[in-house]
Parts: sequence; structure tokens; C-alpha cells
Amino acid sequence: MANVILVGAQWGDEGKGKIIDVLTEQSEIVVRTAGGNNAGHTVYLGKDKYVLHLIPSGILRPGKVCMIGNGVVLDPIGLVKELDGLEKLGVKVTPANLQISETAHVVFPWHRELDGQREVRKRSNKIGTTKRGIGPTYGDKAARVGLRVIDLIHPVRFPQRLKERLEENNEVLRALGAQPIEYDKVLADYTAAADRLRPFVTNTVVHLHEATRRSANILFEGAQGTFLDIDHGTYPYVTSSSTTAGGACTGSGVPPNRMDRVVGVMKAYTTRVGEGPLPTENAEISDLLHGMGREFGATTGRARRCGWFDAVATRHASMVNGIDELAITNVDGLDTVKTIRVCVAYEVDGQRLNHIPNDCEILARCQPVYEEFPGWETPTDAVQRWEDLPVTCRHYLLSIAQMTGARLTITSVGPAREQTMFL
Ligand code: GDP
Ligand code: IMO
Ligand code: MG
Repeated sequence: MANVILVGAQWGDEGKGKIIDVLTEQSEIVVRTAGGNNAGHTVYLGKDKYVLHLIPSGILRPGKVCMIGNGVVLDPIGLVKELDGLEKLGVKVTPANLQISETAHVVFPWHRELDGQREVRKRSNKIGTTKRGIGPTYGDKAARVGLRVIDLIHPVRFPQRLKERLEENNEVLRALGAQPIEYDKVLADYTAAADRLRPFVTNTVVHLHEATRRSANILFEGAQGTFLDIDHGTYPYVTSSSTTAGGACTGSGVPPNRMDRVVGVMKAYTTRVGEGPLPTENAEISDLLHGMGREFGATTGRARRCGWFDAVATRHASMVNGIDELAITNVDGLDTVKTIRVCVAYEVDGQRLNHIPNDCEILARCQPVYEEFPGWETPTDAVQRWEDLPVTCRHYLLSIAQMTGARLTITSVGPAREQTMFL
């Protein structure tokens, strides 16, 4: 399968976790390259549900090596909790199947506090972040004041650097009227986490290059989605990392000329959690999906906003990621819909737009131009072969893939591994 970059083609939660789990079967290594524990990737094995936040979804397949790349921001306390959670569920995680980059940046309690404080101050313009400290941690990385995993596990350097960073950040927190953070407690908690994580920490770039030299299949696990990308998303309503295909290179140290394919994952409709424009948002489809108990956030439990499929957006995603192949998930979510709508263009100020505008205020005013497709109005969740899907369903899926501009290769009709069809 060669080296494959997997990206979300919408606003996150496209079902990447499930598709990663499926594709891991053909990979030797799975690498997370961006984001932090703001991500929530769901994988079902039988009736057991696993939600991965920092650890690659590939961890559930024995014998695969998972890596947390340099582009990730890592909350050590969150990661230890995740390791414990997996252990309780019977998943063995050892340095043989999990490696952590020395140069990933570390999330601290002041990052989470600042994340929350900034949101409160933004009032009605808040981003609706996951409050995991993601923005402030990437901010410190760019400002060159961040601490990295290599600092966290250094017994002498860590206490000193922690003190410096904590003093500065406590001044900021005090000025904002927030509680300062206690040095001794952070030192104790982070030292304990560092002791637990130290055996996993390594120079992942070197391992990845050795793997590419012997032509091992590597899967680059995307987090979040194209429109949450710091450069290509609906700024400022985005996350703080490069969630598009380029981020797989910078976030892992594997260069572009070693990448073979980009797989884009998208739902058969659209969802978004958090604030920001969502042109095809629609109450009817939101109520339908929420009524089925679906589309609640895997990380924060928030109800996701839902809407019709937006081909203007996914076409843009295909462009900036270079998507070769598409996986369409949650097809079964539309099983009861009589007439399905697809946004093929936007209209704003009397003009028709075929591209997503960069100005978020304009995007927020865009009205979708819809094309209608007949629904299949029959359950698809038990279908096992592409040819056995209703003709109307296949027509819909091939049409949205064509509008997006890539080849449909995977269709998913349920959360389980078995509910996956390859074309
Ligand atoms: P990710 O962040 O992209 O990994 O996606 P999430 O795990 O946050 O959200 C996707 C949700 O859709 C999860 O609850 C998955 O179990 C579920 N899911 C994925 N594919 C399908 C599908 O084809 N049908 C159904 N019913 N659920 C799916
Ligand atoms: P996965 O990997 C969906 C959203 C938040 C918010 C914005 C910024 O599961 O697809 P942040 O905490 O990152 O500063 O929040 O980004 N967001 C996600 N939405 N899926 C995710 O990850 C997300 N990670 C962040 O809701 O709107
Ligand atoms: Mg998710």
C-alpha cells in the first residue's frame, strides 16, 4: 500500500479513526502528525468502543508500530490516562508498539487555562475550542518558548525550565484575573508522567527513515479536518496545526517525495463541532441524526452541527490535500432521507461562487445552491458488497466523489470494520 497520508476532507470527525483502523491492516507503521488530545477517533471492535485521542488508532491491531510524531502537541497527563484506559481494555502498549517523538511539544496546565480564558474574552466570537490547551501550546512553539518531550524527560533541565515558564505564565494568568498555577504540583505530576513515558520516547524521524529505506508501508494518520487547518481552514475558527496533507511531512520528518498517496475521508453529509461558518447547516438533518443518537463529539460530547454534503468545500479539500482516493463514511446516516441535497455552489451578494471564500464573514453569509438526489430509503448497514448497494445510493456516492474530484475507493455503512466496502 506504500506510504499513505490520510486526511479529513471536512471539519473533522469524518470517521478517520475507523478508516485508519481498516487501512492499518496493510501498514507496518501508523504515525500521528498533528494536533493533540483535541482529537477523538472512534474505533469499534465488535461491541467494544475505543476512543483514541493522542495514540494512533492503529494501536488496536497487534504487531503494528504506532508513532506520535514531532508535529503533535502532547499532554503527558492525558497520554498516561489514555495508556491506562487502553490497558484496562486489554490493549498492550509497550515501547515495541508505541514510540513518541522527542521533539513533540508539551501541553501544560497554563495552556489549558489560557485556552479557556481567551474563549471567555472572545464572548460571542469564541471559537468553541476543546479547551485542551492546543492553541496556546502551538503558540509557544511558534514563539520558541515551548518545552518539548526531550525537555520533559530530562531530570535536571525540566524543573528549571518549568519554573521559568510557570513564572511568566502565572503573571499572565494573574493579569487576566485567573488563579496562578502551583509549581510543586505541576512538577510532581509531570515528573511522574515523564517517568512513565520515558521508555517510549525516541528519535522517530530516524526510525521513519529506516522504515522508508526498506519500503515499509507507513500510514500517516490525520487528525481534525481540512477546514480546521491553521492555513487552509475557516480562520480564525480553526485549530492551530497543519491538518492538511503537507502537515504529514512537517509533522513526521518524512519528505514529500516519499509519499505515495493521499486518502481523503468524508462523511456522506457534513458535520462541525464548535463555532464558525457551516453553509449547509440544516435543522432537519441535525434532528434526524441526533434523534438516532449520532453525531455527538467523541472528545467533548458536544452535539455536532449537521448539514448537507458540501461539494464546494470538499473540492477545495481535494485541491489543497491532493486527494487521490476517497473514503465516504456514514452512508447509512442518510438511509431514511427521501430527497438528499448537495451543495454545488454558493450564492452571496447576488454572485455565484464555485470556491470557498477566504473571508469568514463572507462565508457565513453564503447561501448554498443545492442539487437534489433521490434517497434510497432502505437500510444499507448490512450491505457487504458495493454492487449490492441501491442504485440510487451508488449514484449519490459516485456523484459526490466526482464533484470532489477524486476516486471513490472505500464506502462505510456502519462503525464496524466489517461494514466497509472497497471499490
Ligand atoms: P474521527 O475523529 O474522524 O475519527 O471521527 P469520530 O470518531 O470523531 O466520529 C465519527 C463517528 O462516526 C464515530 O462515532 C464512528 O464510530 C462513526 N462512524 C464511522 N463510520 C461510520 C459509518 O459508516 N456509519 C456509522 N453509523 N457510523 C460511523
Ligand atoms: P478529530 O481528529 C472536530 C475543533 C474544535 C474547535 C476548533 C478549535 O476528532 O476529527 P482546538 O481545541 O483544537 O483549539 O479547537 O477545532 N476541533 C475538532 N473538531 N474534530 C476534531 O478532531 C477536532 N479538533 C478540534 O471543536 O471548533
Ligand atoms: Mg473525532
